[in-house]
Amino acid sequence: MSADLATKPASSPARRAAVALGVTVAATAGAIFALGDAAYLWVKAVHVMAIIAWMAGMLYLPRLFIYHAEAKPGSETSETFKVMERRLLEIIINPSMVIAWVLGLWLGWKAGFFSAGWFHLKLVLALALSGVHGYLSASVRRFREDRNTVSTRTWRILNEVPALLMAGIVILVIVKPF
Ligand code: HEM
Repeated sequence: MSADLATKPASSPARRAAVALGVTVAATAGAIFALGDAAYLWVKAVHVMAIIAWMAGMLYLPRLFIYHAEAKPGSETSETFKVMERRLLEIIINPSMVIAWVLGLWLGWKAGFFSAGWFHLKLVLALALSGVHGYLSASVRRFREDRNTVSTRTWRILNEVPALLMAGIVILVIVKPF
């Protein structure tokens, strides 16, 4: 695996996120214009698809870190993990988070949930999940520069955090307990 492939961005992450944002806003505006009130359910369907992609990445990335932390820096295995981690982050995780946030905020505004207690807590947990996202993103950079100091055991524990946040968020949005 060439070091070039590991360090060269697939394309600029900021550009990818901007494209995801632009496409999402344009598609949402088009759906609202074409469908009126029926757009709500379509937008919610796309929100859930974005969440599935975001969560798939958030659950898999720390799992890659567990194995990467065991690989010898500079080995072919380690370089392969670098490519896998960067692509997962830039192609799946970052754009799907942008889409989930934009559509989720629109849904909340449209349905008048901004005054609901469950929605406030959902926002807090979604912010926490985004914070974990930021930490994982910084960790991809540290692994790329062979500077990871977090042990395999700690990665195994951190691996559970996105799943716990997801469980809380899904219960809040489905049960709406308060
Ligand atoms: C990023 C910020 C987020 C915002 C602002 C947001 C907001 C919303 C809103 C307003 C709805 C519509 C609720 C309804 O119509 O009853 C919704 C639906 C949903 N959200 Fe989110 N959400 C976010 C992130 C997440 C996350 C991280 C997850 C899961 C890990 C999630 C899972 C869901 C699910 C499963 C639904 C469908 C619920 C249903 O139809 O009963 N959301 N979201």
